[in-house]
Order: sequence, then C-alpha cells, then structure tokens
Amino acid sequence: MRRVVCPGSFDPVTNGHVDIIRRAAQLHDEVHVVVGANRAKHGMFTVDERVAMLKEVTSDLPNVIVGTFRGLLVEYCRAHGVSAIVKGLRAVSDFEYEMEMAQMNYRLAEIETLFLTANPLYSFLRSSLVREIAIYGGNVASLVPPTVQAQLRTKLAGAGDG
Ligand code: PNS
Repeated sequence: MRRVVCPGSFDPVTNGHVDIIRRAAQLHDEVHVVVGANRAKHGMFTVDERVAMLKEVTSDLPNVIVGTFRGLLVEYCRAHGVSAIVKGLRAVSDFEYEMEMAQMNYRLAEIETLFLTANPLYSFLRSSLVREIAIYGGNVASLVPPTVQAQLRTKLAGAGDG
C-alpha cells in the first residue's frame, strides 16, 4: 500500500491544491490530505470549515482521506503508516523552504518528500492571495472551486466592516 500525505494550511483550498491532490491520487493507493491545526486559530476559516471544503472538493476521489494533524507532520506519518509527503512546487521561490522541510523531515523520521511541479496555470496561486482578493471584492472564480467561492462570500458577508 503506497500511502502518502498532502499537508497544508488549506485556508482555503485552491485550484492549485486540488490539482496536486488529484495527481497524487492517481500516483498512489491512498492520499491523506491533512490540515495542520498548530496555528489554525489565526486563519480565516476554522479547521472544521477547511476540512469540510476539502471533503467536498475531493468527494469524487475514493482513495483520498481528509483529516487534521497537530504537532509534527512526521508523527502523523508514523501513526498512520505514511511513507512519503507530497508537495507542490510552484516556482523557484518555494524551493528553499520546501527543501529545508523535506531534509528535516527525512532526518527526523526517514519520511521521503515527493515534489510535483505545479500546473503553470496555478504557479502564482496561494491561499493568502485568494483571501486578499476576496476581502477586497475581487473575482476568485478561476482560482478556487465553486464551493470555496461560496464559502468565502458567506464568511465575508458575516464579517461586517470591521
Ligand atoms: O500550507 P502551508 O502553510 O505551506 O503548510 C505548512 C505545513 C502545515 C505543511 C507545515 O508547516 C508543517 O508540516 N507543519 C507541521 C509542523 C512540522 O512538522 N514542522 C517541522 C517541519 S521540518
């Protein structure tokens, strides 16, 4: 059983994340998509909301399991029999940070990291930009799945002016 993990903040999940998750699901038997809960309190969406959106956008992928993790990612991997972490690389600017984490995770627990190169359509895409565009009334239709667009609208409508 080739079981891998796709970790992230997913605040919120973008089309770029979905692309990487789908490709990982084609390459492996089981993909655990896990929301890191360590610093989630400071985000826009709660961990439960992020998980719900991820479940909805991966509902047609039977080998994808959505969950959360706290603490070190390698501990989640150990506890769930995960042998590798799958990450998307968008641009050279991602490389240094991802390389450090990959090497440290290998050193900590001999967990491999596999990189998929992002679809060039999404090389500029990150959740923080999506949040900013949505906050200032921009159109995020081509950046996130429709359900996320709806959740952003609901969240921002409830946020008031302050
Ligand atoms: O979407 P993000 O914010 O790039 O996700 C980062 C995440 C959650 C994957 C990363 O911060 C992480 O793995 N955090 C868990 C803590 C951990 O294991 N740190 C050691 C890394 S060497």
